[in-house]
Formats: sequence, C-alpha cells, structure tokens
Amino acid sequence: MARHLITSAIPYINGIKHLGNLVGSQLPADLFARYQRARGNEVLFLCATDEHGTPAELAAAKAGQPVAEYCAEMHAVQARIAEGFGLSFDHFGRSSSPENHTLTQHFAGRLADAGLIEEVTETQVYSKEDGRFLPDRYIEGTCPNCGFDSARGDQCDNCTKQLDPSDLIEPHSTISGATDLEERETKHLYLRQSQMRDKLQDWIDSKNDWPVLTTSIANKWLNDGDGLQDRGITRDLDWGIPVKRGDEDWPGMEGKVFYVWFDAPIEYIASSQEWVDAGQGDDWQRWWRTDKGAEDVTYTQFMGKDNVPFHTLSFPATILGSGEPWKLVDYIKSFNYLNYDGGQFSTSRGRGVFMDQALELLPADYWRWWLLSNVPETSDSEFTWESFQIGVNKDLADVLGNFVSRVTKFCRSKFGEEVPAGGAYGAAEEALIAELTKRVRAYEGFMEAMEVRKSAQELRAIWSAGNEYLQEAAPWATFKEDPDAAAAQIRMALNLIRLYAVLSSPFIPETSARLFSAMNTLDTEWPGDVAAALSALPAGHAFSVPDNLFAKITDEQREEWQERFAGVRD
Ligand code: MF3
Ligand code: ZN
Repeated sequence: MARHLITSAIPYINGIKHLGNLVGSQLPADLFARYQRARGNEVLFLCATDEHGTPAELAAAKAGQPVAEYCAEMHAVQARIAEGFGLSFDHFGRSSSPENHTLTQHFAGRLADAGLIEEVTETQVYSKEDGRFLPDRYIEGTCPNCGFDSARGDQCDNCTKQLDPSDLIEPHSTISGATDLEERETKHLYLRQSQMRDKLQDWIDSKNDWPVLTTSIANKWLNDGDGLQDRGITRDLDWGIPVKRGDEDWPGMEGKVFYVWFDAPIEYIASSQEWVDAGQGDDWQRWWRTDKGAEDVTYTQFMGKDNVPFHTLSFPATILGSGEPWKLVDYIKSFNYLNYDGGQFSTSRGRGVFMDQALELLPADYWRWWLLSNVPETSDSEFTWESFQIGVNKDLADVLGNFVSRVTKFCRSKFGEEVPAGGAYGAAEEALIAELTKRVRAYEGFMEAMEVRKSAQELRAIWSAGNEYLQEAAPWATFKEDPDAAAAQIRMALNLIRLYAVLSSPFIPETSARLFSAMNTLDTEWPGDVAAALSALPAGHAFSVPDNLFAKITDEQREEWQERFAGVRD
C-alpha cells in the first residue's frame, strides 16, 4: 500500500472562493485524493484557510468584526462549502491555529540558528493619508519586469515575478489611492534565500518529471537577472503570528508578525498536527518527518500558477534551511487560470460564480464534472454557460444518466428489480470487455499522472462504450426473439453501472454513491480485472431504479444564469 500526502494551496480567509479558485487547486487535489483512496492507498489530504495578512484585517474591518472572530466565522463558512463540493479533506485547518504559531516560530528559530536570517533596518512605505505602513499588496504600480500597470507590491500577476514595493514604478496606495507615499525606518527579518540558490537549483533540476509550467516558473526566477533574492518575512501588523525565535522573544521585533507567505505553507504541516490534536489522526510525524517514517510517503501539492514561486523556492528554502528532516514535496501540479465568460473571475470585483452560489443552482457533481473536464491544465480555459450546459447535458445526462435510466427501467419492466439470469456473455461482450480493459488501464495511467483532462476524456469514453454496446445489443429488440440473450445483455449493463460507480467516484462522488446504493452493493473494489468486475453482480441480485440522475440544463436556465451572473456581487 502506497502512502500519499496531498495538499491543496490553502485559500485566503477573506470571502468565499469562486470557481476559478476551486478548479485551480482544491478540486483537482480532491480528485487525486479520492483516486488514491479508491486504489486502496493510504492518503492524508490536507487543506486549511490562510488567515493572516492585511486582506484578512481589512475584510474584518469592513465586516465590522474583530479579526479573530471574522476568521473563525469565515473558516466555518468555507468548511461547510467545501463539504458541499465533496472536498474530502482529512483535515481542514487554520493557519491561525496554535499549532501553526508554534511551528512557524520554531522554523524561524532554526533558520536564525543556521545563519539564514538577517535583521535589516529598512525604510518602508508609509502612507500619511492612510495613517499606516502600507503592506506590499496594498501598493500597486507598474511592474519593472514586464511593464504591467497593476502589479502589486509583492508580486506581478502578469509575469509572476516576486517584487518589493520599492521596485514598482509610480506606486500608489490601493486603500486610498494616495500617491504621497513616504519611506520610514523600521526593522525586519529577511530569509537569506540567495544563500540557498544552488541547493534549490539542484533540487529543481532533479525534478525532471514535473510539469513544465512548474519548473519553468521556478527556473525563471532562480535565474532571472538578479536571481533569487532574500525575502522579508516580517510585517508591521497586529494580526498574525508574533515574531519569536522558537519560544524566545526576538529583541527588536516586538509588535511585529511573520509575513503571511512565511507562515501559510507551514500550515500544511501544522494542519496535520491539528488533525492529531483534534483526535482525528494519531501520528503526523510519519507523514512529515523522514526520520519518523515519512521517507516512503509521496507528497503532492496542487496549486495555481501564481503560487508556484512560493512552493518551489520560498517554502523549500524554509524546509531545507531548518536542517531538520522534513519531507519535501515530490510533485507539484500547477494550473493555469480559468476565465469567466470573456473576462476574468475576480474576487475583489465579485465577477463570476462563487462556490456558495454554484451549490444553490445545482448539485456539486454538475460543477465537479464540468470544471475537472475543462480544467486549465495546459493553458488558460474559460467558463461559459454554453459550454457548461453542453458538458452537463451531453456527458452527464445523455451519456451516463440515460444509460443508467434505460437499463434499470427496462430490466424492471421485463425481468423485475433483480439481475436477470439466463443466457451467457458472447462475442459482443468480449469485445466490450477488451475495449474497457484497455480504457480502464489508460484511465489509471492518466489519473496516476494527474493528467486531469485526459482522465476525464477517458472516463467519458468508458461511459460511451457502454452506451454504444447497449445501442448495438438492443436488448429491447433481442427480448422479443430471445429473452435469454436479452437477460445476459442486461446483466452486463447492470454490471456496467456498478463499474461506472467505481470508476467515476473521484469525479462525481455523490452520483457514484447513488449508483452504489441503487445497485445495492458495498462492493466498491477497483477493477483490477475488468471481466471479473463485470460479473460482480450475480443473477438474482436485487437492485432498485434510481431517480433521474441528472436534470438537463434548459436554454431558459442558461440564459437566466448568464444574465444573473453578468454583473458583480457586492
Ligand atoms: N492563500 C494563497 C492563495 O490563495 C495560497 C497559499 S498556499 C500556502 O493564493 F502554501 F501558502 F499555503
Ligand atoms: Zn510583471
């Protein structure tokens, strides 16, 4: 049994995430976690909310709530929505947890002991109009690297380069728009990433099986001009993890907190400690410490492309720099962006469909299927209501739903609600088994490789193969001349439904559960041998006809939704 540690980039606490966020990390991570569990492997799947930083502070202020209270509430909201989407986290933690406080301070202490932290007195942007130091992301200006005019002080969203506010050309405060920004002195800690450049380069170079999207971003700014720069890891804020050196105070750093991007990835580990502390797990170290059994763990991270620099460089610098035997990531699966109907999804502008709204319209599986089969894998992709309607109606309703409905209803009317006896599998069934065997093995290969779109295509082809078989076998016609032959055909078709329930479960888990329940079986075993899997339900096995699996999206609905979501949400 293989052991898979799987993490999804942890979503910011402020606000409900949109479908573009969901498809770029949590959903494909869930697909992989469910697949590995279905294959009988041991999985620890972790996520959390990313609760620090100014966005959280400002969102709480806007909501008129103390920030801790705001975060607790939003965490519960996000957890409930994640559950609604069937995201099967073993633990959904919080980066503001006591566990993460301790662990983050621990890492900072280790890095300091290793000489990898530098105390720097620097000038920082202060906005008199706002009456505060401006955090990086509240300063915008033109990117010195690519010329993009809305680059943030921490990173350019256009070219992904990590930036410092002072790099920006013509900076202004995004809180007030103020341009009379001045520099004032303050002391901060810097992580000396540059010292680890060669180590990181060797590590990246050893990952020749990683997606090009991942390694190209890492290499780009390991080697770009000035190369890997030291990073400030502290901020002048109230909300966050107080700067400490292990459990000791850090002279001169009173009142400061760690930068959100320093503590957020550490939460991957802390989340597993929360999982244990909540009594859900009994040992986190065997997942994370190579001296405690984690050397045989395969660790996979899922994230959008804007997160890649932090996961290929900054976080590994923390891990490697600690000099302790922490588990490093084995594979980073990164995604491009999903656009919304001719533009971008935008949290700040409320553009697109948000997770709570999606679940109010339709069950999770409709969204899961469309999003995963259109995941922005090799390039950006686009959500349009037309494409969504077609995907749902064709794949789910016409192919899978229709197959299940025709087979179960026909059987009920001619043979009753049990798997019919009589007849035997012949040449057509053998051909089907041969085709499915080939396809199931291909599906496994794609799922293993996290080729999400190809996996969806293969699953769709597996559903279609059943439809084509049924169409050719035409048991409704066969029945008139040879009821025994029709019985064998229907026996095959009912077994196909169980097979589909198994194979589809990572993509559409709710539907899969309904199919298992209709087929009245607890046999969820993965089809090692497809022929054997297609005899799992024997003659005489009782089943029931499920309610219609998928309702088609009508043109009226599509138009109404398109209209409704065209504007912005406040
Ligand atoms: N909150 C960040 C985002 O949504 C992701 C943080 S991932 C972690 O872009 F590694 F820092 F945890
Ligand atoms: Zn840029």
